[in-house]
Amino acid sequence: MKIEEITKNKIIFLDILLIGDEDENMIHKYLNESNLFVLYNENDKPTSICAVIRIDDKTIEIKNLATYPEFRNKGYASMLLEFIFDKYKENYSEIILGTGENENTLSFYKKRGFVETHRIKNFFINNYPNPIFENGKQLIDMIYLKKLIK
Ligand SMILES: CC(C)(COP(=O)(O)OP(=O)(O)OC[C@H]1O[C@@H](n2cnc3c(N)ncnc32)[C@H](O)[C@@H]1OP(=O)(O)O)[C@@H](O)C(=O)NCCC(=O)NCCS
Repeated sequence: MKIEEITKNKIIFLDILLIGDEDENMIHKYLNESNLFVLYNENDKPTSICAVIRIDDKTIEIKNLATYPEFRNKGYASMLLEFIFDKYKENYSEIILGTGENENTLSFYKKRGFVETHRIKNFFINNYPNPIFENGKQLIDMIYLKKLIK
């Protein structure tokens, strides 16, 4: 198992990035300026991805975190998050991220130390061309979470 930072040809990971963010246009907006990390499993297969951007001197934002469905529940995304916390804690004090109101996703992040800070009302209605459904529920508001890393 290894985690690598991808600096060239980031777009070859578009299929897995689309799992974490189904809007390809949005992905193109942040991919170039993102630091992109890929976790490869023991068979050297890319299984999880995380895209991170710098917001300001103290804050970084996770723009995308995803694991291919067949590799979920093995701890890969947690390992990638731990790697990110460790890598950035020297120079940054907090990590933020925005997500839809999906109980599974929210509980995943809350178990890993994130707390809700605010929400942007109607974000998914106003910013995406088509309605997005997760677990049979339409995403409406964007919920922001924050974790202190030092
Ligand atoms: C959210 C997501 C990234 C999690 O990926 P993952 O690689 O399955 O994550 P993990 O395996 O680290 O953790 C998932 C669960 O498996 C459990 N788990 C961890 N290691 C495990 C192991 N060795 N064996 C079995 N289960 C394990 C974890 O406890 C966790 O459960 P919990 O949240 O109740 O604690 C993945 O479900 C996904 O890609 N979802 C779609 C995209 C998305 O919603 N992204 C987040 C918003 S950007």
